[in-house]
Amino acid sequence: MSVVALVPAAGRGVRLGLDRPKALVPVRGESLLLRAVRGLLGSGCVQHVVVAAPPDQVEVVAAELAALPHAHVVPGGAERTDSVRLALGAAGEVAPDAHVVLVHDAARCFTPASVIRDVVSAVEAGAPAVVPVLPVTDTIKEVDGSSTVVKTVDRAPLRAVQTPQGFNIDVLRQAYAAAGDIATDDAGLVERVGGKVHTVDGHPDALKITTAFDLAVAEAVLAAEESSAK
Ligand code: C5P
Repeated sequence: MSVVALVPAAGRGVRLGLDRPKALVPVRGESLLLRAVRGLLGSGCVQHVVVAAPPDQVEVVAAELAALPHAHVVPGGAERTDSVRLALGAAGEVAPDAHVVLVHDAARCFTPASVIRDVVSAVEAGAPAVVPVLPVTDTIKEVDGSSTVVKTVDRAPLRAVQTPQGFNIDVLRQAYAAAGDIATDDAGLVERVGGKVHTVDGHPDALKITTAFDLAVAEAVLAAEESSAK
């Protein structure tokens, strides 16, 4: 029995105005993708990773991950949903004994190993689907169509979701078999087919690198860590 992680990285980074897929953007000389895949394999509980790459960049992405023996690269699809579906199909071939599947954002490449292990342990303990979460710290307002505040939302029961999201592999297969074209949240698909989604504690370091500011912060944090390690 093994654990396989899927990393959909077939987006083109258009929203960020990048000249390459966001996953290939380097932070201190190493791409988000390389850091994320190494983090998954280095957690000690993930045996295989399947990365969905832009179809015309499979070789570039494979070269990026060449140093990692258990990383496999497949062509992604038109939408994220298609990319996850294709990676899930490939997982059945590279890891036919997999009982747990993770879906992880390359942009969350600083996720601590403890979060990855907690997600896997919760699925192995019987949860069909597991997401790492953090309490919401900002004040949340609901607004109407003219951007006027309708009310202040009670944030006590709210949680922000990180990745990796973890699943019993049969549950994720069923959810994707029932899914339509577009889904941004894999656990949401499990909810839709009536599956229970459990939570474990996320971690602030598992932030999603989304903006140029996030990249600059990550560069600065790594630079400080490197100089203090000298
Ligand atoms: O573009 P967006 O931010 O919604 O993409 C979310 C994630 O899904 C990114 O990691 C992106 O690389 C991935 N994706 C994909 N295949 C697509 C579109 C997006 O794997 N066709």
